[in-house]
Parts: sequence; C-alpha cells; structure tokens
Amino acid sequence: MTTGGAARGRIGILISGRGSNMLSIARACREGRIPADVALVISNLPDAPGLERAAALGIETLVIEKRGAGRREHDMKVVAALRAARVDLVCLAGYMRLLSADFIREFPGRILNIHPGLLPAFPGLHAQRQAVEYGVRWSGATVHFVDEGLDSGPIVLQAAVPVEPGDTEETLSARILDEEHRLYPEAVRLYFEGRLRIEGRKVRITG
Ligand code: GAR
Repeated sequence: MTTGGAARGRIGILISGRGSNMLSIARACREGRIPADVALVISNLPDAPGLERAAALGIETLVIEKRGAGRREHDMKVVAALRAARVDLVCLAGYMRLLSADFIREFPGRILNIHPGLLPAFPGLHAQRQAVEYGVRWSGATVHFVDEGLDSGPIVLQAAVPVEPGDTEETLSARILDEEHRLYPEAVRLYFEGRLRIEGRKVRITG
C-alpha cells in the first residue's frame, strides 16, 4: 500500500493534552514543510490545553467526550467528524485512548501515532518512566502507523536519545519531546509526499 500523494492534504489531529506535537505539525504545514493543512483538532477532554493553542492558530477544534458512551460509539462520533472535515490522514498526538478496530478500518493505512519510546520497548503509558526505571541507556521516539494492538503498528521513523545518569522521568521526557517535534512533522511530510509504502510489518520509504 502506498500512502498519501494527494495534491494538498487535510490532516485531522486527535489530542488529550497540551498539544505540543499537534503544534509542531501545524507549524510545519504553515511553513510549507508539509504539503497539507490541519483541518481539525479533536480532543476527548474539554480542558485539554492544546485546544486553545489550536484555536489560536485559527484551526477548527472540537471536543468529543466519551462520557457514558461505549468505545465504539465514541469512536464513531470521532470518525464522523473526521469524515465531515474530509481528512486524508489522522494523527494521534498525545491522544490517550486506544482506537477500536472499527475506527482503524475507516482509515486503513491512514492513522499515525507518536510514542515517547523506542518501540517495541515500553509500549503503553509512561514510556519515559518505564525507560528510566528499567535502566536502559537509550530511549527515544517512534512514529508508527496505528493497528489494533497497543503501539504495535508498522514503524515509520525512530530517533534515539541517550538516557543520562541522574535522569528523571521529567528530564528524559523533555529530551525525547525535542525529538518528537522534529520526527512527527517529518513523518507526516513523507506521508503526503506519497513516499511511505506499507509492506506487511515494514514501512519502506521511497525516493
Ligand atoms: C508526547 O510525549 C507523546 O509522545 C505522548 O504524550 C505526549 C503528548 O504531548 N504520547 C503517548 O504517550 C501516547 N501513548 P503533547 O500533547 O504535548 O503532544
């Protein structure tokens, strides 16, 4: 499967928090480094600081809370909003929810996620804390396509950062975040240039 390649694409970004990765993608679009625009930012939490930061850039924002809904029901509301905004690519950027299989089927090969660790090590929550507590010498960031598992989809790009003696979860997170802000826009650019080819578990970067 070859990805992207549309003239000027439309991105939907899902967040749950401060939205710094969302901003890094939005800025790269503005600066012409990604041939696409952020069409919509959706948060599952109404008080996510990223919502205001997106609105300040003039990006349409939406809150879709889960509340009493089941996972699939909530996901289908999010899918409907993404479809209404005619997005080509969905970027999870600190979206702290697992997507249902039905959501993923709606956007085959068109959902990316960023994870603050070198997958497949330390998937799930608090990857940076897991790395510090385990005592690894290297951690980093991973951008991957989303499949039905937990942080298990085909890997697009990775960047390694050293874990320094005396690092805390906070200091390591900050070092990784710098790399995330470089890596995610780069992966999205490759996507919209049509240069990502998903071949089973692997992603081939063409050109
Ligand atoms: C980022 O470090 C991202 O990698 C991580 O949450 C943070 C969100 O920051 N995502 C996960 O842990 C997903 N499992 P941001 O809201 O400033 O982009």
